Amino acid sequence: MQKYALDFLTVTEKAALSAFKWVGSGQKNAADKAATDTMRKQLNTLNFLGEIVIGEGEIDEAPMLYIGEKVGLGKNPELDIAVDPIEGTTPTINGQENGITVIVAAPKGTLFHAPDMYMKKIVVGKKAKGSIDIRASILDNVENVAFALNKKLNDLNVMIQDRPRHKESIKSMRALGVNVHLFQDNDVIASLLTNMENSNIDMMYNIGGAPEGVISAVAIKSLGGDMQACLMPKSDIEISRCKMMGINDVNRVLTLADLVRSENSVFSATAITHSSLLKGIEKNKHKQVTHSVLITGKEKRARFIETIY
Ligand code: FBP
Repeated sequence: MQKYALDFLTVTEKAALSAFKWVGSGQKNAADKAATDTMRKQLNTLNFLGEIVIGEGEIDEAPMLYIGEKVGLGKNPELDIAVDPIEGTTPTINGQENGITVIVAAPKGTLFHAPDMYMKKIVVGKKAKGSIDIRASILDNVENVAFALNKKLNDLNVMIQDRPRHKESIKSMRALGVNVHLFQDNDVIASLLTNMENSNIDMMYNIGGAPEGVISAVAIKSLGGDMQACLMPKSDIEISRCKMMGINDVNRVLTLADLVRSENSVFSATAITHSSLLKGIEKNKHKQVTHSVLITGKEKRARFIETIY
């Protein structure tokens, strides 16, 4: 897997460059198509047999990079691949912060096949490993994480998405004195920030997309952090979708070991627009510069890579 790390980096760099042309355009479908087309084209130059396990949707709703699509030129190795050609589509097309292109890969059969629905997620860095419990209340979790980090609650920094569904959690954390940092979009970035040495974020608590949860889990596992999650199907249709995907107990706690069943993984993300994690694409008359983070399960470290195109 390690030997494909730079190839996956090139995939996200090129897809981000394609999406960059649509920054500020207001055109969601065109931006998504540009990034998806490029990602697919690049994947189909690589010598493996990949299966898209998290992609742009089912075959009937996504012409490219649909769940089950095979990518790559070869027969071996066989890989599970999860893609998000634009994570943060809304901020990207609105010319705002937090747009990235992201891909993860691991040996066949080792990534959790997450249906496209909400998932509750808690993510922390390595010093707080073992202190989270998705079944417990948000308040118990912040207390346990603060204890593990030897911090007072008013020194604890938690990220959560600015959505009405989080109103009560935000209010109750703030009542305890916790510093709550709201973000508009992109819980993959928020998850990663909990595991970055130069970030002050201690924890992310969010109800966001399940596909993004699996993508984040690959990075968090490699970086030695901790994560727990639980699917949140909203209707009988979503429950039957889970069952069709082989998830019989929809309420089960998903640990890092359930989300990613291999140490041998690659995570690559390239910024489209600026964020707290990565600088956005810089462009002038002569060149374009991309900023990416590449994380491999084998090396267990994040490399920040600047590439001139
Ligand atoms: P997209 O770019 O796919 O729309 O996802 C952005 C995102 O902010 C995710 O990071 C998050 O998990 C999800 O949307 C939350 O969904 P919602 O916008 O419904 O609150």
